[in-house]
Amino acid sequence: MRILGLNAFHGDASSAVLSDGQLIAALEEERLNRVKHWAGLPVLSARACLAAADAGSQPDHIAISRDPKAHLTDKLLRAALRPHRWAKLASRATNSVRISQVAEVLRAEGIYASNPANFHFVEHHRAHLASAFFPSPFDEAAVVSIDGFGDFSSVMWGVGEGNQIQVKDSVLFPHSLGIFYTAFTQFLGFPKYGDEYKMMGLSAYGEPRFADRVRQVVRTQDGQCRLNLDYFTHHSKGVEMTWDGGEPALGPIFSAKMSDEFGEPRAPRAEIRQRDMDLAASVQLVLEENYFALLNFVQKQTRATRVCLAGGVALNCVANGMIFDRTDFRDVYVQPAAHDAGTSIGAALYVQHQILKQPRSFEMRHVYYGPEFTDTEIQGALQSAGCQFHRLTEAALVDRTVEQIAAGKIVGWFQGRMEFGPRALGNRSILADPRRRDMKDILNSRIKYREPFRPFCPSVLAECVGEYFETDYPSPFMVAAYKIKPEQRDRIPAVTHEDGTGRLQTVERDVNPLYWKLIRRFGDVTGVPVLLNTSFNENEPIVYTPAQAIDCFLRTQMDALAIGSFLLLETENPTRARMAESLLVP
Ligand SMILES: [Fe+2]
Repeated sequence: MRILGLNAFHGDASSAVLSDGQLIAALEEERLNRVKHWAGLPVLSARACLAAADAGSQPDHIAISRDPKAHLTDKLLRAALRPHRWAKLASRATNSVRISQVAEVLRAEGIYASNPANFHFVEHHRAHLASAFFPSPFDEAAVVSIDGFGDFSSVMWGVGEGNQIQVKDSVLFPHSLGIFYTAFTQFLGFPKYGDEYKMMGLSAYGEPRFADRVRQVVRTQDGQCRLNLDYFTHHSKGVEMTWDGGEPALGPIFSAKMSDEFGEPRAPRAEIRQRDMDLAASVQLVLEENYFALLNFVQKQTRATRVCLAGGVALNCVANGMIFDRTDFRDVYVQPAAHDAGTSIGAALYVQHQILKQPRSFEMRHVYYGPEFTDTEIQGALQSAGCQFHRLTEAALVDRTVEQIAAGKIVGWFQGRMEFGPRALGNRSILADPRRRDMKDILNSRIKYREPFRPFCPSVLAECVGEYFETDYPSPFMVAAYKIKPEQRDRIPAVTHEDGTGRLQTVERDVNPLYWKLIRRFGDVTGVPVLLNTSFNENEPIVYTPAQAIDCFLRTQMDALAIGSFLLLETENPTRARMAESLLVP
């Protein structure tokens, strides 16, 4: 039995296919259409996932992580209290019609021809909960989803047991921890969809001197978070979503009171002042207080020692890194695609278990559910691009790549199946030496062009976590920041953030043997079994095809590219940037 899960008409549209309960493929639409965070009906990724499951096959069920009927009474009640909002509601109703027409569109696209009864609308947060619990290693756990909004709620929590999740409570519009965090992210001059991680990175540089005032903006008690709505406009003016070439953007959601209280908002790309850093630190601190108030409430209600997390707020790796210190949970599973992309997996799993009552048999231990390319395909792309390359055995490829990295070079690493979710975890990565203090600046000046306050992250052998970090617990998906042991910080300065943490990926040998061997070899050569790992892209969605990887290599100032069995060196393939530089030399 095949189930196609879709995250449609939300940011980070995506598709996933389950076959007899096993996740076969999962893919964000942005990787194919090259528009970051694209929102719409993910037809391209649906086709690609179905092809990966079994060429030409159609799904038996389709699950969409959105239910226009969810909380309908609450929505109508709210509308009745605000008649001036009829126009906006009418447009939302149009959106609902569009949702209801998805089956027709998919049928027209040839993706789905089965019984309409097998078409399922799964409420957004139920899909998040399912994405967190069903693929976790736990038979029983508390399950919590926290985000901005989806289907009129911003939090949902419950108890997972076997193949069922019992929902206990939720937080409804207009109250939301995600909206709280997003509003301050906008206020601090980061207006793009998904920019919240920038404020999180910035927070490490500030002192939380505004914490008391930020505490006036949001409070969480007895599992309910409450916004002081005077600071917001999403509830009064609505949230204006715009679609710039398909890329979603959120209009401002903070009110004038925010400026009265905290000063003028920072303009995008303006200089970052001490106020901005201190405000970011304050917002992060208050987010953590509310996050743990909620998690501790859930823990006390459920008496669970294990927790599964999803929703965009669950990507706050700084908060996740404190779960063991600040709650009584002793085991944690965070869905690696905790943002909305992961709801395609969640919706499919929800149908598989919650609706069809099938037993669980799948554990999501990695994210390598995207496409892969054969050496023949890669060689064709290399020849088309006119590149010089070396075909190597696996052992030689590992040795030569490590030589490059240890010599301070920046290496593109394109291997196996592409990752699903926001993080590159060793298959579509750019790798560098974490021991070099200047590597962050080198990467930023030559390839990534990121804000200097954003950290680069370490991949570490799973068996060495306790040697480098104060928390010795697996973090395979880069969704938690642990304190790096003080005595190790100078050994890996390029991946040590301002606050002494590292947002780590623990790499297990049986999960990604090639990447494990690479880090292990780097450890043998240098004494440090850690690599700096950042996503393989340059201000674009992560590279998808060999041709895109080769183009990124040639376009930027990468020193080497290890792609399939092939190694390319910059010295033999001058990058366009360096060619342009050389033309300027008289
Ligand atoms: Fe969500």
